[in-house]
Amino acid sequence: MVNARFSQGLNLLVFGLLLLKTDGLFVEITYVENAVATGAVCLDGSPPAYHWDRGFGSGINSWLVHLEGGGWCNNVTSCLNRKDTRLGSSDKMAKLIPFSGILNNRRQYNPDFYNWNRVKVRYCDGSSYTGDVAAVNPATNLHFRGARVWLAVMEELLAKGMRNAENAVLSGCSAGGLASILHCDSFQALLPLGTKVKCISDAGYFINAKDVSGVNHIQSYFSQIVTTHGSAKNLLPSCTSTLSPALCFFPQYMAPQIQTPLFIINAAYDSWQIKNILAPADADPNGTWESCKSNIKNCLPTQLKAMQAFRLQFLISLLRSGKSSSRGMFIDSCYAHCQTEMQEFWYMTDSPELNKTRIAKAVGDWFFDRIPFQKIDCPYPCNPTCRNQIYDSEHTPQL
Ligand SMILES: *[C@@H]1O[C@H](CO)[C@@H](O)[C@H](O)[C@H]1NC(C)=O
Ligand SMILES: *[C@@H]1O[C@H](CO)[C@@H](O)[C@H](O)[C@H]1NC(C)=O
Ligand SMILES: *[C@@H]1O[C@H](CO)[C@@H](O)[C@H](O)[C@H]1NC(C)=O
Repeated sequence: MVNARFSQGLNLLVFGLLLLKTDGLFVEITYVENAVATGAVCLDGSPPAYHWDRGFGSGINSWLVHLEGGGWCNNVTSCLNRKDTRLGSSDKMAKLIPFSGILNNRRQYNPDFYNWNRVKVRYCDGSSYTGDVAAVNPATNLHFRGARVWLAVMEELLAKGMRNAENAVLSGCSAGGLASILHCDSFQALLPLGTKVKCISDAGYFINAKDVSGVNHIQSYFSQIVTTHGSAKNLLPSCTSTLSPALCFFPQYMAPQIQTPLFIINAAYDSWQIKNILAPADADPNGTWESCKSNIKNCLPTQLKAMQAFRLQFLISLLRSGKSSSRGMFIDSCYAHCQTEMQEFWYMTDSPELNKTRIAKAVGDWFFDRIPFQKIDCPYPCNPTCRNQIYDSEHTPQL
């Protein structure tokens, strides 16, 4: 009892110090309890969840819905591993999370969306919100219900006031950035005709490319996701009518069909894609890519050459999805993954720039039709404003 009290006090103290240190906003979780009745649940059967910070002032009727990322699970084994983590169960999620970058509530850090209703939807289905298998195997108790989760959360937000939105944005990073493309038109369809609706995909433009050993690793991986989660019926019919469901999980094949304005933010050398599409462990049994993948500065000339070829493939795949003026594009030549949620990428004095423009400014100008923005950076290492990711498995980063 005394111990529990003491530890609670300690937690509060640590949390207080954290608040002081970051001077940031922490937002409480909301569970969508009534979603359980319709089977709209996380992998383990727990209710889906989101964090909502209310809009204020001129933003009171504007909504930004940001979908959390966190990879996928592609088979029963990997889904079982995920089930008891925050990415598979709302029981395991932190109840308070920081809102920064595109979710920041201060104008100086988030000039165009700071006073909107800002929502972060927690990711716990492992399928970018596309799965829907009715049956639950009692031996695993795995629920493949991402598409139901999507609908249940959207219905709850509509009821909380989003149905009166003047402006609405669907955004997301990584698996959430892929989901924001996949669900972009269905998001718009949920809102009244008069609402200005646009979507933002951050680090969600995963390309269908061969790995360094010549194997199409990502295509079989995506194919397993779609099969395991029963996603086919929730992908874009305009794509699945001509291509296999696995291909319709890739933006290059389905983004051309999206009608709603879409802004794509992606590093041409996206670090997740370099690590998992170009040089996955299976394709590099001797680990010759490990050092390069952990820090782009360590890449050998032959590896940089492969990465430059990957960038060209990325650009070709990207341009397949059209250059209509409603499309926004911020394709930097950084070694990074997700540039909207972290303040230092989104909008600080030293954040990455293209044409002297930071991401927050490019996206805000595009959303409000002030200036269209479609910029592709020169090849690495030409952009001195990049914040290249360094992955260090030996040492945890300092607080
Ligand atoms: C499941 O997927 C993981 C990750 O891709 C892989 O390592 C594993 O071999 C797969 N397991 C089965 C049973 O297919
Ligand atoms: C890995 O190293 C072994 C021994 O040096 C070599 O024979 C083999 O070709 C290497 N494999 C690859 C994929 O580089
Ligand atoms: C770069 O941004 C400026 C505004 O800062 C704009 O006038 C100019 O047209 C842009 N250049 C290109 C190539 O888009």
